Amino acid sequence: MLPPAFRSSGDLLADRRYDYAMAAKADKDLVAAADLLKQALEIAPRWAAAWFALGETERARGVTEAAAAAFRQALACDPDDAMGAGLMLARLGLNPPEAAMSTGYVTALYDDYAPRFERSLREGLTYRGPEMLRDAVARACAASGRIPHFDQMLDLGCGTGLAGEVFAPLCSHMDGVDLSARMVEQARRKGVYHSLSVGDLGAFLAGRETGSADLVVAADVFIYCAHLAPIVSEMRRVLSSGSLCAFTVETHEGEGVILGAALRYAHSEATVRAAVAEAGLALLVFEPAAIRQEAGRPVPGWSVVAGKA
Ligand SMILES: C[S@@+](CC[C@H](N)C(=O)[O-])C[C@H]1O[C@@H](n2cnc3c(N)ncnc32)[C@H](O)[C@@H]1O
Repeated sequence: MLPPAFRSSGDLLADRRYDYAMAAKADKDLVAAADLLKQALEIAPRWAAAWFALGETERARGVTEAAAAAFRQALACDPDDAMGAGLMLARLGLNPPEAAMSTGYVTALYDDYAPRFERSLREGLTYRGPEMLRDAVARACAASGRIPHFDQMLDLGCGTGLAGEVFAPLCSHMDGVDLSARMVEQARRKGVYHSLSVGDLGAFLAGRETGSADLVVAADVFIYCAHLAPIVSEMRRVLSSGSLCAFTVETHEGEGVILGAALRYAHSEATVRAAVAEAGLALLVFEPAAIRQEAGRPVPGWSVVAGKA
């Protein structure tokens, strides 16, 4: 589904060519689809959605150069990259994966997903990230003799507020941030947050006072963040001493960070451990956690709780 601003070129004829192209693609006639998209683009040469669709079509045909050229045009027409052309270039091996995720893409994805998110994740994908993190935090507290109650929790990438709901009984005061205004709208309805902001978690953390929080949570969010170390380091800065952060990541067997076929990042075990160590946090829980399923299979990941001395 295209982000709303991209659904029409503003020209009826071009829109019609695009629709015919999508029908041809559905019929697996990729040559006709590419031809119709080129016709649409002759009429509306600045239509990012048609360039993106042409990129996908050429990729499906195995014509990598033409696909890359079309994705580059999509990026040029929409520098915010709501459709994720940068990610497609990275998947083609033509863009560094670490630089490929745009905030425009994540925002458009979750603005569109927001009304269906909870049903899809909870029922379809058996998502249990918030519960797993809550249990991991409770165990970290038990092991260190800390009372599992927090004055100020920050929920990074709060989404519709699932983690907020799960952690609410443990917290007096909770603030959340998310890139997607529509996700935040849903989170607001939960009535568990003191404040909610729309924006990037990095800027949100930068705006918090040093030592002002005693729990920072990021449930299933770092799948959109290539560089963990600066974020974990900022988490440490906003934590008061004796307090905790808790997050999940998807993982893979290799080294470093990779961009998977589902356009999410997976971080190696060593990368996560290094980010925590570099930030000067103590690792309290580091355990395998398949927080969600994909195509009926658990997606491998880690559940992490780290503490500030
Ligand atoms: C898979 S959802 C998880 C939502 C929620 N934490 C939960 O457990 O249900 C990922 C969320 O992270 C948000 N997100 C991704 N990158 C972000 C960033 N850099 N800053 C703020 N929010 C971000 C997305 O908009 C989306 O709502």
